[in-house]
Amino acid sequence: MLTRRQFNKKLLGSVASLAMPRIAVADGVQDLVASEARTRLAPAEYPETEVWAFGGSVPGPTIRVPQGAKVSRRFVNDLPQPSSVHWHGIRIENAMDGVAGMTQPAVEPGAQFTYDFTAPDAGTYWYHPHNRSWEQMARGLYGALIVEEAEGAPEVDLDDVLLIDDWRLNDAAQIADDFGAMHDWAHAGRIGNWITVNGNGAWTREVQQHTRMRLRLVNTANARIFSLEARGLEGWIVALDGMPLETPEPLERLSLAPAQRADLIVDVTADEGGEAMLVSFERDGGYALASFPVQGRARTARLSDPIPLPPNPVPALRSINDARRAELHMEGGAMGGMQSAMMGGRRMGMREMAAAGKVWAFNGMAEMGETPLIDAARGETIRIAMTNDTAWPHAMHLHGHHFRQISADGSVGPLRDTLLMNRSETVEIAFVADNPGDWLLHCHMLEHSAGGMMTWLRVA
Ligand code: C2O
Ligand code: CU
Repeated sequence: MLTRRQFNKKLLGSVASLAMPRIAVADGVQDLVASEARTRLAPAEYPETEVWAFGGSVPGPTIRVPQGAKVSRRFVNDLPQPSSVHWHGIRIENAMDGVAGMTQPAVEPGAQFTYDFTAPDAGTYWYHPHNRSWEQMARGLYGALIVEEAEGAPEVDLDDVLLIDDWRLNDAAQIADDFGAMHDWAHAGRIGNWITVNGNGAWTREVQQHTRMRLRLVNTANARIFSLEARGLEGWIVALDGMPLETPEPLERLSLAPAQRADLIVDVTADEGGEAMLVSFERDGGYALASFPVQGRARTARLSDPIPLPPNPVPALRSINDARRAELHMEGGAMGGMQSAMMGGRRMGMREMAAAGKVWAFNGMAEMGETPLIDAARGETIRIAMTNDTAWPHAMHLHGHHFRQISADGSVGPLRDTLLMNRSETVEIAFVADNPGDWLLHCHMLEHSAGGMMTWLRVA
């Protein structure tokens, strides 16, 4: 496995025992406790890894609700740091968006905050902290939020959530604590050396030939982009970022940037006794990310191609031609041309910026200002042309809304909440700003957003 470095066999000394997570339910609201925990990420010859986790496990508990149902969780912060919970991709009210310092104050250690919202859209979503995310997510804080279709769910034999993560572990299989490393911030972000699926370095699930599975992939990594293919599986992409595609798309190579999701329907075509797998490609080769040993047969012949998932109630784009337009110029980072940017009301050079922890800028600003990128009337159609004038790819995420990419030839892409932008690329997105509140637009490479790639929109 090329991304797994050799750990040496040095063992850790004794580790102080950790408190058991609380799960008490007093008033019918379930707790979602974030605390220190220990889990086995690395192979058995290494010690367990000390992590921060929701519900004492990595990933945290999968929250599954029917479409239109309420999600209520009392977030209890047993971490040594203030935190919050952001429900990524779910179009909910602003006050529940979990952005510390914007939609709520950070929840202090020992304090609590109750999240309570209705899940409007079916699909694959996830939750994670939105305070010092670059550290808190790298330590293991994330979980899946699955909203089941009210009707028209595809018929499958198995429905699995695969949360794919990229950890940076040291030789004792502990999380490397070099969180603020400027080199990571100014380059690709924190790229790790140990890949897990659902917290497991060798995730496996036994299947039968012709088993039909729904695989819900979530990239929870700080910064790594996965490039995936299937072997011994015939597959279709049926949803991206939770939102159904109008026509399922045959699965060839799938790129999954940080925070992106893909719902696949896959049929096991590998022979009995063989193995199907999801393969992840890197520059210099590939490795099995998830493997599916095949034992027996589920049925004698393959099923017919899947039909589309039912659409979610996202407002349709109308009048893109007279939409309000904004431009977002992304610059900075290593090997970029940025000389200076605005911070604290004055212009700073790169060196001074870096000393203040900022290395990127949106529209010449290395930190969020008092004025939003766009002040939209409720229901207005908005277009944002984003230009990546840096030497790095970025995964641009809009809170509270899903958007579509508008191409120069007028074609309109699928609904997404996170879009991968390559270097030097300009991409225009459009959406109906129907969700009132203040919403972030930022790079989901977490070192990049912390380093300046963050702005916000206001919907009145
Ligand atoms: Cu997944 Cu602003 O977050
Ligand atoms: Cu970025």
